[in-house]
Parts: sequence; C-alpha cells; structure tokens
Amino acid sequence: MSKLWGGRFQKSTDTMVDDFNSSIRFDQRLYKQDIEGSIAHVKMLGKQEIIPENDAKLIEKTLCEILTDIEAGKVEFDIAAEDIHMNIEQILISRIGDVGKRLHTGRSRNDQVALDMRMYVRDEIRAIQEMISSLQLVLINISKENMETILPGYTHLQKAQPITLAHHLMAYFEMLKRDKARLDDTYKRTNILPLGSGALAATTYPLDREFVAQELGFASVSLNSLDAVSDRDFCIELLNSLSILMMHLSRFSEEIIIWCSHEFQFVELDDAFSTGSSIMPQKKNPDIAELVRGKTGRIYGSLVALLTTMKSLPLAYNKDMQEDKEPVFDAIDNVKMCLPVFADMIKTMKIRKENMYQGAKGGFTNATDLADYLVKKGIPFRDAHSIVGKVVFSCIQRNIGLDDMTLEEYKQASELIEEDVFTAISLEECVNRRNVIGGPSKEMMTKIITLNEEYLK
Ligand code: ARG
Repeated sequence: MSKLWGGRFQKSTDTMVDDFNSSIRFDQRLYKQDIEGSIAHVKMLGKQEIIPENDAKLIEKTLCEILTDIEAGKVEFDIAAEDIHMNIEQILISRIGDVGKRLHTGRSRNDQVALDMRMYVRDEIRAIQEMISSLQLVLINISKENMETILPGYTHLQKAQPITLAHHLMAYFEMLKRDKARLDDTYKRTNILPLGSGALAATTYPLDREFVAQELGFASVSLNSLDAVSDRDFCIELLNSLSILMMHLSRFSEEIIIWCSHEFQFVELDDAFSTGSSIMPQKKNPDIAELVRGKTGRIYGSLVALLTTMKSLPLAYNKDMQEDKEPVFDAIDNVKMCLPVFADMIKTMKIRKENMYQGAKGGFTNATDLADYLVKKGIPFRDAHSIVGKVVFSCIQRNIGLDDMTLEEYKQASELIEEDVFTAISLEECVNRRNVIGGPSKEMMTKIITLNEEYLK
C-alpha cells in the first residue's frame, strides 16, 4: 500500500528503510491509547464543525470496531505503515474510505505520539503503584508478627545494635512510600495534554483542547506547542522513579541473599521461590533476589539511554525520539515482573528467629547500652565509651559476651556498676528502651505500623 505521506515522493521506500524506520514492532502496544486519543480528537472535530458531525460519528464507531478487532487478535499490522498511529489510520481508511481521511485534521503524529505515551505512562504508573502497595502490605503483615523478633542491626556490615525484624522490614516500607510519592509526582507532570500542538506550531483550526483534555482525563493542557511535542521529561522522570525503586529492591535483595547464606541463616526461602544447581546437589539458590538485583542495572541503563538520546536534540520533534519507547517499555515490563515475584518471595520465606536472636547476642551489640548505663550513673559519655571499650577488649580475649561477665568483674571496670546492669544490657531492654519516634521498641513499632496501615488504606 502506498504511504499516507506519499504525495511528494517519486519512488517507494527502500525495504531496508521500511524495516529500519518502522516502530510498529514495539509501539503496537499503544493501540488502545492511540484509538482512545483519536476518538476524543474526532469528537472534538465534529463538535467544532471542523469536519461534518456524521463523519465524526462514523470514524468514532469504526475506531471502536478496530479496537475490538485488535483485541480479538484479528488485525495484522503492516511494517510499511511505520508505526501504530499510521497503521490504525490506514486500517480506518481501508474500512470507510474518504471519511476516514478526515481523522488526521488539525493533528500531527508528533502531538499524537506524545499523547499516546502520556496516556500509557499514566496507566502504568497506577499499575506499578498498586504492585508497590501489595508489597507494602506483605511487609506490614510480617512486621506485625515480628515486633519482638530480635536480630542484629549492622553498620559497615559489622554487628552494631540490636533491632527487630519489624523495624528492619518497615525501613523498606518507608522507601516504598517515597517510591510511590515519586511516581505520583511523575504522574502530575505526565497528566498534561499535548494534543493540539500539531507538528510543532499548533494549528489554524479552532480546536477545543480543553474538551479533549476532559474527555481523556488530563488535568490541564500544555502551554507551548514546541515544548509539548519535544518533551520527554515525563518518560525520563518515570525511568528515574523506577531506577530508585529498583535500587531499593536491589538493596533488599542483597540482604535476602546474605540472610539466606549458610553463614547467616536468618531466613530460608520457600522451595517454590528458589532454584537448584545443575551440578551441586546440595544447593538452594536465591535466584529471584539475584535477578531483581541484576535487573536493576538494566533499568538504570534505560534511564541513561533516554537521557543521552535527548541531550542534544534541537527543538522540536526529531526522529531520535522514537527511541524513547523501548527503554520505557522495557523498564515498565521488568519492574512489573519484579514486584509481584519479589513480594511473594518475601511472603513465603521462613524466618529463623532463633538464628537472628543468636546473631544479635554475639558481637557485643549491647555495648552502647552498657555505656548508656554508665552515663545514667553519672559518668560522662566519652569516659563510659572508653570503659566499655576496655571491657569489650577483655571479653574478646576470653571469648565471652558482656552478659557472661560476673558482677565482681564489672565492679573492677567501674565501681558504679550494680546488679541491674544485667537487665540494662539484655537485648530486649536494648530494643525496647529505644522508644523515640523512629526507634525499634515494640511500643513505637506498634504506633508506626498503625499509622502506616492507615496510609495504606
Ligand atoms: N513513530 C514515531 C515516534 O515514535 C511517531 C512520530 C513520528 N513523527 C514524525 N514526524 N515522523 O516517535
């Protein structure tokens, strides 16, 4: 079939160029947005009497039929028609002839593709936010059961102070809250109608852009046509938001991988969420967590790819911008694969409370609390720090923990130490006395979880 833009050409396109230039392979997923956008556009053309009302009605009806046919798998796209926009227009014209040729009045593919991408990104943002909420719910549920499950908290991956599993998991809950908020923010700047910007300089037709915006649920219309057709900030912001989200999932994955190791054994992944080795019969590997961590690099790659594509484009539309689609689609697809499988992996993993507790017992995680104990007895913190440092050193020599010391031995370190030291440095006390906002105590975690349950509703 000859090109919709074929008028000024004497020769047909080289087949290699058709292949090279065409984006239908990957942009066909925009068919729904493209058709919905066209329907809003054609309704407006009819209402404004830019085209006859009856033509507008027939076009709308036929577009609906094309949508049904595409969804039923009855439509074959044509590489030579380049992209989803011209494919659908070509199908429309093949079905209703001259009337179909009126659809593209007062519109360019440049504002059309910008519209389709915005509609697509809007939908996907909401879908991804819902998946994040499901993961958050998993975290809340496990946390509620584990407000007294003590494990060591780390800095530098060295045992630091005791915390609870609830406190640890709810840290990720906070990250995910920020991820959703970032997506909300991206949504706001995505939800602006570019249609009506034409190729670059708007149009002479009396378009009613506000009407189209309302039909399609956009909060406002773009205010500069050059910007509107050449802006892909919303795609970059999406990729940025997804990169940060994946960075969080990747850190979480890293911890799961460490926790599964024989050295830690803090958790055991469910058989259904682990894999074996083709040679080593004993192996049970955390492939899901590793793959989530691995895919993070790919999402960053998409962000950098699009930033780089956009960095030297003069105004307004340039064909380079067709390269926005694959990174955006790939990032969305992969994030949507990661979130549910990750959530289920966490939901089904076995928590080895005893190993966590033993982990917190070793490594002098209560040393700060011993120093704080001395401070309460009147010793300046720096001196207390030094006294405890010496006690720790001698314990290391003797291969014992702070709670294995006798009161007499403690007295040698400081006369001020009494029998109550043993409660003060018990792991339960260490955790539950950390009762400031944001701390791991059971009382505080109960409040924070209630607050976050409200937020999830
Ligand atoms: N397939 C194109 C894209 O994705 C649509 C816009 C084409 N516009 C143009 N003037 N060639 O960017």
